[in-house]
Parts: sequence; structure tokens; C-alpha cells
Amino acid sequence: MRIAVLHGPNLNALGTREPDIYGHTTLAEIDAMLAQEATTLGVDLTSHQYQGEGEIVAALHRVAAEGAHGVLINPGAYTHYSFAIADALRCIPIPSVEIHLSNIHGREEFRSRSVTAAACVGIVAGFGAQSYPVALQALFTYLSRNR
Ligand code: DQA
Repeated sequence: MRIAVLHGPNLNALGTREPDIYGHTTLAEIDAMLAQEATTLGVDLTSHQYQGEGEIVAALHRVAAEGAHGVLINPGAYTHYSFAIADALRCIPIPSVEIHLSNIHGREEFRSRSVTAAACVGIVAGFGAQSYPVALQALFTYLSRNR
């Protein structure tokens, strides 16, 4: 099983970015947590971080064309307004799970709206860095049942 992880804008700064909200775990540490969980599950995982909306759209099309079976995506702030990413998630014939470190429903009002979530099979939010391995487990189970 092949799963592609797409990290959105500003997530490269995890560890020092608003640690009271996002914690002290760096993106490299999150990728290491994911790699460890992927090894346990027997999943072939790739992971990349993108600042640009168009880069994320292109990456979604690319990973699907290259044979990924599913996507884990934290679209960052694009979550709240990117219809291009929402459309790309709907274009590709593989399921995606949306991830957030923070509970987007417990913060500023503009963050409680996700335009991308409806194009995903589910979301995991609010568990800090732990949201990532939890989402990987959830997508793995979903794919195992729906292949
Ligand atoms: C985030 C939440 C977004 O509102 C924010 O813009 C981010 C991170 C999260 O993981 O909690 O960049 O996606």
C-alpha cells in the first residue's frame, strides 16, 4: 500500500511556530513518527512540504498518477479557502484524510470552516503531532476495507 503525505504552507516551521498552539515537535520529527508507523503497518510512505497552493494541486495529481493509494494532507491555511485544492482532492480517484495539529473548531471563527474536508473521507484534528500517526492508521484501515 502506497500513501503520500502532503504538508502545506508554514508547516516547515513547526517546532518554533506558535508552540503554544502547534507544540514543539518539528516537521522532521513528525515525518519520523509517520515513517515508524508506516513500517509497522507495512505502508510505503512518501512525504513532502509545499508552500504554494498550485504546488499542492500539482502534487495531488502527480501522486495519484504515480500510483499512490491514498493521501494524508494538512493544507494549512488553504484549508479555509482553497477551492482549487478542494477540487483537486475531488479530481483524483484516491481517498484523502485531512489532518490538523490544532482543533480548528476551537480557534478563530475563520478556522472552523474547512472547504477541503468535504472532499476527504475524514479528518483528524486537535491531537498535535499525534494527529499524523492516528490519521495514517485511519487511512490504512479505510484502504484495507475499501480496496
Ligand atoms: C493547521 C490549522 C490552520 O488553521 C493553520 O493555518 C495551519 C495549521 C493545523 O494543523 O492546525 O497552518 O492546519
